[in-house]
Amino acid sequence: MKEITILGSTGSIGVNTLDVISNHLDKFNVRALTANTNLDIFVEQCFKYQPEYAVMTDEASASKLEEKLKKKAPDISVLAGIEGLVKVAELDSVDYVMAAIVGAAGLLPTLAAAKSGKRVLLANKEALVMSGKLFMDTIAGSNSELIPIDSEHNAIFQCIADTNNQENASIRSIMLTASGGPFLNTPINELASKTPEQACKHPKWKMGRKISVDSATMMNKGLEIIEASWLFNIDPDSINVVIHPQSIIHSLVEYKDGSVLAQLGNPDMRIPISFGLAWPDRIETKVERLDLFDISQFDFKRPEEDRFPCLRLAREAIKQGGTSSAILNAANEVAVNEFLNNNLKFTDIAIVIDSVMSNVAQNNASTLDVILNDDKLARAQAKEVIRGMKI
Ligand SMILES: NC(=O)c1ccc[n+]([C@@H]2O[C@H](COP(=O)([O-])OP(=O)(O)OC[C@H]3O[C@@H](n4cnc5c(N)ncnc54)[C@H](OP(=O)(O)O)[C@@H]3O)[C@@H](O)[C@H]2O)c1
Repeated sequence: MKEITILGSTGSIGVNTLDVISNHLDKFNVRALTANTNLDIFVEQCFKYQPEYAVMTDEASASKLEEKLKKKAPDISVLAGIEGLVKVAELDSVDYVMAAIVGAAGLLPTLAAAKSGKRVLLANKEALVMSGKLFMDTIAGSNSELIPIDSEHNAIFQCIADTNNQENASIRSIMLTASGGPFLNTPINELASKTPEQACKHPKWKMGRKISVDSATMMNKGLEIIEASWLFNIDPDSINVVIHPQSIIHSLVEYKDGSVLAQLGNPDMRIPISFGLAWPDRIETKVERLDLFDISQFDFKRPEEDRFPCLRLAREAIKQGGTSSAILNAANEVAVNEFLNNNLKFTDIAIVIDSVMSNVAQNNASTLDVILNDDKLARAQAKEVIRGMKI
């Protein structure tokens, strides 16, 4: 039996993880669940899975949770704050940690899991984008395993694992596929007036609001280039983005000999989640089977630079190195949040990030303190830039 902590259990990845686990309760036991403020769903999850610990980062929500669990589930220990997240990420009794908090808020508990010898199932790409080498060194220095849950990186992991390729020396390039998001065919001069609701209406995937906007700007793919370069130790110039609107091929690896391996499946996050939980085995899922006759056609397209400026910004950040990726990520988080709150135009997201990257100096990202400090400076700068913009 594997004991599991799910960081961010109320989100899209968290709910899908619990769905997979529900069908394999003989193999996996939920030891801890965490959320921020989403009390209603979290209470239901606590009743259903009876974890030993339930953490709510938001203190007021944690107090309300304690009150609600008192009668029906008095054995569940309720914790609050970032300390609670870190505690359940490093519990001795836990084998696997699903890192599914969105954004920088997931960095500390995900690093804590990486430090304490867990199998880290990494959905929270922002944690790796921010801390890059520090994160990979932490994994290497403990007995932790790192399995990417992002469907593209999980696909690459599957392609590489299947060839038993230890060194990556035989890889010529990686092709990250992208759906192109909801605005792939929208006239570029109409993008400025797009609303949060339109941006969050992803054509293929049902995801949280932040990653949905990132998909619409393609910053998601930019973050994924950075993520892939750290995970697989590949030069970012050898990572190409291919728009594939059907979202069936989840990514491809090109080898020196001309072979190209790909992983395919319906766009359903329960596939990479179940892979990460079961690896090196495979377990049954309730995912709809792939019907190639039904799909009948695959399309591929190059991303247009003027439609998706965030891709260029992400490439610049990884080239600059140091804390540049953390600065990029922080500026993006602030800009996306303001866009979601109707305080910023869709097309201004990239303008804010560009401005922050030009104005906040990057540093050597060797310690967590430096990374967190630059994250803070970039957030302050992004807010400043947005204050000066007209919506
Ligand atoms: N969704 C996908 O299909 C998908 C695919 C690939 C990768 N990912 C990555 O997986 C991560 C999660 O994405 P998602 O779509 O599942 O996001 P989501 O639906 O927005 O869920 C986010 C989760 O994080 C929690 N959370 C938010 N802010 C927090 C904070 N300050 N402190 C602690 N917890 C906090 C939320 O709790 P509350 O509910 O209480 O707010 C929720 O449980 C992201 O990094 C995303 O890029 C997602």
